Amino acid sequence: MTDLLEPATAPTATPDGAAGDATWWRQAVVYQVYPRSFADSNGDGTGDLPGLTARVPHLARLGVDAVWLSPFYPSELADGGYDVADHRDVDPRIGTLEQFDELVAALHGAGIKLIVDIVPNHSSDRHPWFRQALAAAPGSPERERYVFRRGRGEHGELPPSDWTAAFGGSAWEHVGDGEWYLHLFAPEQPDWNWANPEVREDHLSTLRFWADRGVDGFRIDVAHALTKDMSLPLPTAAELAADDLPDGAHRLFDREEVHEVYREWRRLFDSYDPPRTAVAEAWVPAHRRSRYASPDGLGQAFNFDLLRSAFDARSFRAVVEENLALAARAGSSSTWVLSNHDVVRHATRYALPDGADEEAWLLSGGTEPPADHGRGLRRARAATAFVLALPGSTYLYQGEELGLPEVADLPAGALQDPTWVRSGGTRKGRDGCRVPLPWEASGTSFGFGPGPAHLPQPGWYAGFAADVQDGDPASTLEFYRRALARRARLRCAEDLEWVEGTPEGVVAFRRPGGWTCATNFGTDPVPLPAGQVVLSSGPIGETLLGGETTVWLEDEAGAAR
Ligand code: NOJ
Repeated sequence: MTDLLEPATAPTATPDGAAGDATWWRQAVVYQVYPRSFADSNGDGTGDLPGLTARVPHLARLGVDAVWLSPFYPSELADGGYDVADHRDVDPRIGTLEQFDELVAALHGAGIKLIVDIVPNHSSDRHPWFRQALAAAPGSPERERYVFRRGRGEHGELPPSDWTAAFGGSAWEHVGDGEWYLHLFAPEQPDWNWANPEVREDHLSTLRFWADRGVDGFRIDVAHALTKDMSLPLPTAAELAADDLPDGAHRLFDREEVHEVYREWRRLFDSYDPPRTAVAEAWVPAHRRSRYASPDGLGQAFNFDLLRSAFDARSFRAVVEENLALAARAGSSSTWVLSNHDVVRHATRYALPDGADEEAWLLSGGTEPPADHGRGLRRARAATAFVLALPGSTYLYQGEELGLPEVADLPAGALQDPTWVRSGGTRKGRDGCRVPLPWEASGTSFGFGPGPAHLPQPGWYAGFAADVQDGDPASTLEFYRRALARRARLRCAEDLEWVEGTPEGVVAFRRPGGWTCATNFGTDPVPLPAGQVVLSSGPIGETLLGGETTVWLEDEAGAAR
């Protein structure tokens, strides 16, 4: 059966991917760098821009099309840099604006685009405008840039509502004069008031600042939460939870007005040549995602459905079908994400028994239930090859090309994620996927830098180091290199045709030009589909596709190309 996708309303990249720079993002492989944990040049334990620049050859050899750089702005690190004190500068521990320019030049010189993270829902409590707001009186224009409300009780001693923050605890912080400010995340991350024109103007200046510096695109943090209905009386948390998302009635999230913001941003993006791209991190129901991805909005939106899907044929196929249709309807291309800085690495998720509670597993220090790491890596490589064969863009997270598992046994004293403290030690948080990368099997911090890393690295990191894997055809690093190189050669129009009648547990699809991808999600071997195998995520037999393995095949004519 041919699965015809609805026609896109936005331009589609030409088969050779050379449709001018305006559509480069539609089928790009984007590599996420979490800068503090990527490479440290000066030995202070924190990754930095010169460290990243020095590793551009690694990214070029890997074959990525773009880098998404997580926040590198001045920050007190209350939330891993997502608490931004100055949106138009570089944290001195990470580098300087000149070093940022050097990074852009090095990436562009290697043919790699750069996407930076924009954090528009909140600032840091160290942001000058928030300091001014604290120093100013209730009702002042300074306080109007954030979301201040009078507390309940005679003297405002109770929070304005019972809302809780994402990391735990109240979503309100008292400032001592009867007023409280809203923070959907940590108390050090006060929410902006997007009804305030100054806030809008300032963000446009920020976007212009980076676009003028040569940045190719933006990843928009918490894109669904900017505009809020804060009219009084405030609803209770229970009333909020009962708000009905599909008709846009929710007070805090996914409101109609947020799209006005993005339409204005789009006009700015399109004033550049090539237009700047953007991808929304919007935690909204799948059918609402396309609003963020539309060509007059941000243009693309993350689909996190595979992060929540078990390694299962039916689930994977259902996610792909739904998201290709949604992206096409939006005039966008889909995104595929298996790992990022907020979730347990996929090599580990797939090592746990299906349905295991990841939070509980992390709390046990990674012992309960026991993880089958061999299986996790086998499935992770199969899932990676599966998504890399799909139409749309794939977002890779640093270290997944090394097959890195989660570090689950970080001692409590080392944890940096606000989740740990704010949840009263009931949720360990996201540090386990943010442990600095092992570049070398020996030496201080495994080649991350000249000094110890800011999060402790386990001894077993040595076995995953890039220098150990380099040149070993069986390694995960070489597998990623082969996959990306082959994907670039096979680059084709954004069509997909499902192959029906495959054995139970096998999902296969064809792309234009005679490229077939088949994944055996089961554990028993199945017959290999016809064609010449040009990539496999693990060992395969002459005629059999082993369990938990993906192969790419080309028709004989294509393979000879
Ligand atoms: C989403 C980011 O990915 C996450 O790391 C951060 O904690 C929240 N947004 C708040 O900015």
